[in-house]
This record gives sequence, C-alpha cells and structure tokens, in this order.
Amino acid sequence: MAKHTVTVTDNDSGKSVEYPVREGTHGPAAIDIKTLYSDFGHFTYDPGFTSTASCRSDITFIDGDEGVLLYRGYPIEQLAEKSSFLEVSYLLLNGELPDKNELADFTRSITVHTMVNESLKNFFDGFHYNAHPMAMLTAVVSSLSAFYHESIDINDPDSRTLCAHRIIAKMPTIAAAAFKHLVGEPFVYPLNRLSYSGNLLNMLFSRPSEEYEISPIAEKALDQLLILHADHEQNASTSTVRLAGSTGTNPFAAIASGCAALWGPAHGGANEAVLRMLEEIGDASRVEKYIAKAKDKDDPFRLMGFGHRVYKNYDPRATIIRKTCHEVLDDLGMANDPKLELAMKLEDIALKDDYFVERKLYPNVDFYSGLIYKALGIPTQFFTVLFALGRTPGWIAQWTEMVEDKEQRIGRPRQVYTGAARRDYVPLDKR
Ligand code: CMC
Repeated sequence: MAKHTVTVTDNDSGKSVEYPVREGTHGPAAIDIKTLYSDFGHFTYDPGFTSTASCRSDITFIDGDEGVLLYRGYPIEQLAEKSSFLEVSYLLLNGELPDKNELADFTRSITVHTMVNESLKNFFDGFHYNAHPMAMLTAVVSSLSAFYHESIDINDPDSRTLCAHRIIAKMPTIAAAAFKHLVGEPFVYPLNRLSYSGNLLNMLFSRPSEEYEISPIAEKALDQLLILHADHEQNASTSTVRLAGSTGTNPFAAIASGCAALWGPAHGGANEAVLRMLEEIGDASRVEKYIAKAKDKDDPFRLMGFGHRVYKNYDPRATIIRKTCHEVLDDLGMANDPKLELAMKLEDIALKDDYFVERKLYPNVDFYSGLIYKALGIPTQFFTVLFALGRTPGWIAQWTEMVEDKEQRIGRPRQVYTGAARRDYVPLDKR
C-alpha cells in the first residue's frame, strides 16, 4: 500500500511540501508537520490543541464519538468491574496485566513505601485550618522532591520505577493528612495490611478515640472511582506533567504541576463544582431556571459535570459511575437523598433539551463522582484530591513514557505575536 501523505500548499508562493501521515493502532492518523516551520517559515495555530497530537503514546485510547476508553487496550468497563486500582496501576505502568507473582511483588513494593518522612507532616502545620486541600496536596507533593532529589536519576529505569512506586504509595498518605488537617483531627498512619482503598478510608475516617470499621461498599466504590480516573490520555493535567517533565525536572515536581492543573473547575475541580452547583440550585423546582442560565451566553454559569472536550456521545466512565452511584446510595439507605433527586432531575431535563442535545453535552464522570464522595462522608472541598490520587498512576506512566521516548524534546509551543510592533524606548520625562 502506498504510504499515506498529505501535501500542504502555500497559496501565496505556490510552494508545496508532502508530509508523512502517522497511523496509530486506533483513532485518527496525524500529519507529521515537524519540519513545517523550516519548510514554510510558518507555525500552525491551534489554541486549546483541538487538532494537535503532542506525542505518541501506548497507554490510553479514547474514541470520543463512540464513548470508548481503553487502558493499554483493555476496555474501562471490564477493568472497572473485574480489576483493582493497584492492578490497573501496574497495567498502566508496565503495559501488561500482572500475573499473580508480579501483582504480589508490586503490591508489596507499594505498601512498603506508604510512609512519608516524619518531617513532611510538619508542612501541614504551616497551612491555615481552612486551606483548600488541593493547595496542600500540590505543595506537599512538590516538596517530596526535596526529600528525593539527588537520589533520583531520571535516566535510570530502576530509579524511575522506584519513583513511580513511591508516588503511588505516598499519595493516599499525603491526601489523608490534608483531610485530617481540614477536619482538625490527628493524622493517621498507613496500615499496610489493608487494601489500597481500605487504607485510604482508614486514614481518612479512623480516629484514636474509637474503632473504625471499613465499609466494603465504600472500599469497592472508592477503588472503582480510582480506576475510572487512573488515566485519560493527553488531558490538561497529564499534558502539564509531560510539559514540566520534558525539562528534566524532578518527577515529584512534575506530578505537583499536574495537581495544580487538575484543580481547575473545567478539569478535576468539576466534581467539587457539581456539588456546589447542586447546593446553589437547592431545590428541584429551580432546575428549569438554572438550565436557562446555562444556555444564556451572557451568563457565565455552566452546567457543571456536563460536556467533555473529547466525549461527544457519552462518557463511558459516567455510565459505570451512574450505576455505582445508585447502588452506593441504595446500600447506604440514601436512595431518596434530595441531592440525588435534584441531580437526576437536572440530568433528565438537560438530556432532552435541544441546547444540550445539539452540542452533544452529556453528563461526564464528575457529575456522579461527587454524589458518591458526599455519600461516603467526604467534604466537597476534598473531592478533587481523590481525583488526583486516582490520576497519579496515569501521570507517572505518561511521564515515564515521555522520558523513554527518544523523539520527545523539551515542550516549547510557538505563538502568533499580536502585540505592539517594534518601537523605541521613550524616556520617562518625554512620555
Ligand atoms: N454548560 C453549558 N454549556 C456548555 C457546557 C456546559 N457544561 N459545556 C459546553 N457548553 C457549550 C459551550 O458554551 C459551547 O456553546 P457554543 O457552541 O454555543 O459556543 C459548546 O457547548 C461547546 O463548548 P466548548 O467550551 O467549546 O467545549 P470544550 O471542549 O472546549 O469544553 C469542557 C469542554 C469540559 C471544558 C466544557 O464542556 C465544560 O466547561 N464543562 C463543565 C465542566 C466540567 O464538567 N468539566 C469536567 C470534564 S470531565 C473530567 C475531566 O476529564 O477532566
């Protein structure tokens, strides 16, 4: 078969150059325009990167039109039902599902690294009692680089693996410490005999004063939520991790930059924003009014938890989590929770409304995840921290892939400069 190419012609000069097209396993092929600037002296303009592939990746595939999400080829539906977060983390990092021994070794390695240096705990004392937990998480993850800087050699595969295991292991400990600071309770140390999600729940909810029993429903739901968030190819936070990492910076600092990018309400902050929105709407009788606000172009209000840059059919994670959300609320005896009723009414009306139908705006994963977190007793401010925790194996797998990819260079986008033309400095007394 002839090699697929695309020819670009400058209609002013008439110059034409043929560019190779790179085919992937699934999904649209990409025109390789690396030499376009040297060929034409032009850049490409693509704000928001809607048509730009910034890398090649073997990790995750999304078909937004068909609502498909694959981690290393495995459909998210199968992983969410049959796998565990640690197994999925292994898969993302290594490319294949582990056998029994490999999973046992990986689990052992993650559990031995759950503790954080005791002095790291002191960092939390520097935060005001009501500091946003994402601010604490970002700062403390970044400060891990102070503990592991000289010892990390990003060019050494074993050093990269150790770093990946450390960050996956320590995220729950740091996240739970931020939670305890938020609620004004003493920090709880990790318990390595518990599962990843069980340990997280124990660090979040156990208190020195009373026994805490881990609810298997909560443990399973949390593990599934972490699986659903584990990777999502080149989203804003992952691209941020790759961009920061492309400079050769400390990987913990690169992951911290991912946390910062995730925090925004258009990305991982949406789960918090959904709950705040439901609180603001307050009552099912006010749904119509808020739907109208979301449609009004002069009103900045958007229906949080609706729409996605890539999914234009449905978000497969939302389909899974919607079911879990109903199960968890049923199990916890909260099926008639007014927030759930309100959310269902909002979903129902929006899905029939022409504005949302025409723009292919469907509920995304964050529309439901916040309802589950709320039912588990997690404060709204803390939701995005759990998203960050889930996304960590994805971030570190993508960082590793970037470091190993010989084609990757420091990330450095270009621009179309639209500022003042060259002009001479005018001394202050002449202005
Ligand atoms: N409510 C009302 N209108 C919306 C919404 C919404 N949630 N989302 C998009 N639109 C409209 C938008 O105004 C635009 O209308 P028009 O074509 O008339 O100008 C059209 O739909 C296309 O929107 P866009 O902003 O060009 O789409 P995008 O791909 O740039 O943005 C998005 C995607 C997720 C940022 C956006 O849909 C949004 O802000 N949603 C709410 C926030 C949210 O739930 N984010 C979580 C995403 S899932 C978690 C994750 O993976 O990070």
